[in-house]
Order: sequence, then C-alpha cells, then structure tokens
Amino acid sequence: AAPHAHGAHAAGPLAGAALAHLPSLTDAWLLVTDGRIAAFGQGHPHGPQGGLVATPQGASPLPAVYRQLDASGALVLPSWCDSHTHLVFAGYREGEFVDKIRGLTYAEIAARGGGILRSARLLNETPEDVLYVNAWARLHECMQQGTGAIEIKSGYGLSVEGELKMLRVIRRLKENAPIPVRATFLGAHALPDAYKDDREGYINLIIEKMLPQIAAEGLADYIDVFCEEGFFTQEETERIGRAGETYGLKAKLHANQLHRSGGVQAGVALKALSVDHLETMGQEEIDCLKGSNTIATLLPGAAFFLRMGYPPARAMVDAGLPLALASDYNPGSCPSGNMNLVVSLACIQMRLLPEEAINAATLNGAYAMGLGEEVGSITEGKRANLLFMRPVPSLAYLPYAFGTNCIDRVMVNGEFLLY
Ligand code: NIG
Ligand code: FE
Repeated sequence: AAPHAHGAHAAGPLAGAALAHLPSLTDAWLLVTDGRIAAFGQGHPHGPQGGLVATPQGASPLPAVYRQLDASGALVLPSWCDSHTHLVFAGYREGEFVDKIRGLTYAEIAARGGGILRSARLLNETPEDVLYVNAWARLHECMQQGTGAIEIKSGYGLSVEGELKMLRVIRRLKENAPIPVRATFLGAHALPDAYKDDREGYINLIIEKMLPQIAAEGLADYIDVFCEEGFFTQEETERIGRAGETYGLKAKLHANQLHRSGGVQAGVALKALSVDHLETMGQEEIDCLKGSNTIATLLPGAAFFLRMGYPPARAMVDAGLPLALASDYNPGSCPSGNMNLVVSLACIQMRLLPEEAINAATLNGAYAMGLGEEVGSITEGKRANLLFMRPVPSLAYLPYAFGTNCIDRVMVNGEFLLY
C-alpha cells in the first residue's frame, strides 16, 4: 500500500507555500476502526520500525478480529471535499448550452428569463420527492467519482415554499447520505419574476420570512448571496449576510464571477468562510483577502463551461492566500460534479501544481465547509473517506491524464462503495 498521508498539519487551511506540501508515505499501512482512521505508518503494523506501539501489557492495539486488505501498488488519497454545489435542481438546461454554442452569452440568456429563473420555475413545479430522488442519484454519482464530503445550496426556489422545499431535500440528503453534507441557504441567487420590480420586497422576504423559518427548522449551516451585476449589489450582499449572521449562519458568497462586483469586499467585511468563483479579480481584491481568514474557492469547471477566463490562481497562492477547489455542480454553469476533472483543470488552466490542486480539493475544501477536523486528510480520528487509485506512475499522473478515471475503489466510512 502507498497511503498518501497528510501527517501533522496546522489546524486551518493550507496557504501560500504550504499548499504545495503534500506529505506522503510509500510502503505504508493504514488501520481503520469504526469508520475512522485509527492509525497509519510505514512498513507493517506489526513491524519493528514504525509499527503500532504495543500497550504496556504487551497487547497489540490491533482489534482482535480484523479484515486485512492488500492495496499493493495503489495510491491512497483522502476523498475530494466539494465545498460548493447546487446539486438539487429540477431539470437540465442543455437547450441553453446549445444557445451558447450559437453565440448567446450567460447574461443574455439570464436577461431572457432563462438561466437561474428557468430553473426556479421548474423547481417550484416539481414535488419534493422527485427532487430528492434525482438529487440522491447525483450525490451518488459524485461519491463514485470520489467526493467524500459535500456542500449543497438552495437558490432555485426563490419563493418561501420553494427555498424551504430545497432545504428540506438537502436535509433528507444529510440524514441519509453516508458522507457529510452541509446546507447553504442561497435565497439571494436572483430576483424572482414575482419581484422583478420590487428588489426591496424580495430582500425583505429573504430576511423577514425565509431566514426565521429556516433557522427555526435548523435547515441551513451557511448563507450565500450571488453578488453580481444584475443580481445583488455589494450593499445588498452585506445586508443579507448580516441578517444570516444574526441566525448563526456564516457567509459563503458567490463573488466576482462575471464582474468585479464588490463580492470579495463584502465577503471580507462579513468575515465570510469563503468567497467563491473569483474569475474577475484585481490586485485590490487580492490585497483585501490577504488580511482576512476568508478562503478563496475557485470553480474552474464553471469557467471552462462558460468559456471564460480563469481566476488568477497563481497570483493568489503567491500572495499567501488559502485556496480551495470545488465543482459548482449545477444545471446552468457546470453540469458536472467530477472533482477529478476540477483538479485537472486547476493544473492545466490555472497552473496549480498537482500537490497544490489536491490539497485545495481535499483539506482546504473541507475547511471551506467547516469540516476541516472531520475529513480532507489522512489524519488519525478523521473519517476513513479515501480514494484507492489504480496503480499510477506518480501523483502528477492524476491531473495529467485528464478525463481518465484513475479511481479503482472509493472508501466511505471504512467501507468500499458498491457500484
Ligand atoms: O455558481 N453564478 C451563480 N450561480 C451558479 C449558476 C447557476 C445557474 O446558472 O443555474 C454558479 O455558476
Ligand atoms: Fe455556484
């Protein structure tokens, strides 16, 4: 076995030069008990060097009965931690995909009532059970592709009932999925048709009707706003974020996707856990993030799908920022939850080193959804959510061989997923 282990690491996301540091062991063993990583080391657990230390009574700390698995030749990684998805939705939008091939822009499609508003209409017509079954299938597909923890947003309801319905679906996923699921309330994803001439009315609906009910039912862990021209301004974002804060919801924002919209500044002012997208960044935004604890989360799958420029990832790492990578899985701007591809895109298009991209898609992703102590690295006590890769020549081969499935088996809570 060749577990790829994060040994001792500082508590908190990896930033700057530390992002390129991915400790590994060759010829290694790993002990899982009760679904968690109990110990790991080099050689053999009973071996003289680096083996499990016997108790003073001489008893082995290995369980009396255990299953042994030979993973010779495999590369073992912590599972992907996908900290930004919208995987509860009611229909695909491949028609818009073709419209874009013909030349329409994302903004033009949105202005015609396509985009997010189309998804909202469909979602409001779709029963909760149907949403749940379809989201469950997508979640399972993500798990087969190696995702071992995930954040899911609402934001296709845009009505009190619709947003609550989405969040209840996410709660059911949370209760039934074997991997950790985090829920984010994104009522401020777009101005719904019913409020197109009444921004203030919709923002008040979010703050006065949606938030109290969501908090009363404990339906969300975080709050998100699409801070963007034509969507929500910096001031509105801060106002909605502060309202979320009063209910204990930390912000995770959609910031600077299409324009330098003030999203980064709003996120820093709100002490957001993360600001996500960041395709359009200036030095001012990088400097603003420098003095904060906010994680910069990049979603290269969306930039790829929308044929946009990518975020200046190198400049951000070189400025010492903590970067996370996530999929943005959604029907409009990234209809894929494949984190293997996200890691490849990060290396190919944003020049992250393979080690940087893997850290950003595992440990830093875990921190970007408040799960940094639970998943994201091979560390004693964390969940045994692990990827057993096919024999590959090196770590760099994974992002290099883009589109190739290098995953042999996926472990969740110490058990292999059945296909
Ligand atoms: O993260 N940018 C805002 N929201 C999504 C897209 C949602 C949609 O087009 O349905 C995103 O890219
Ligand atoms: Fe998104």
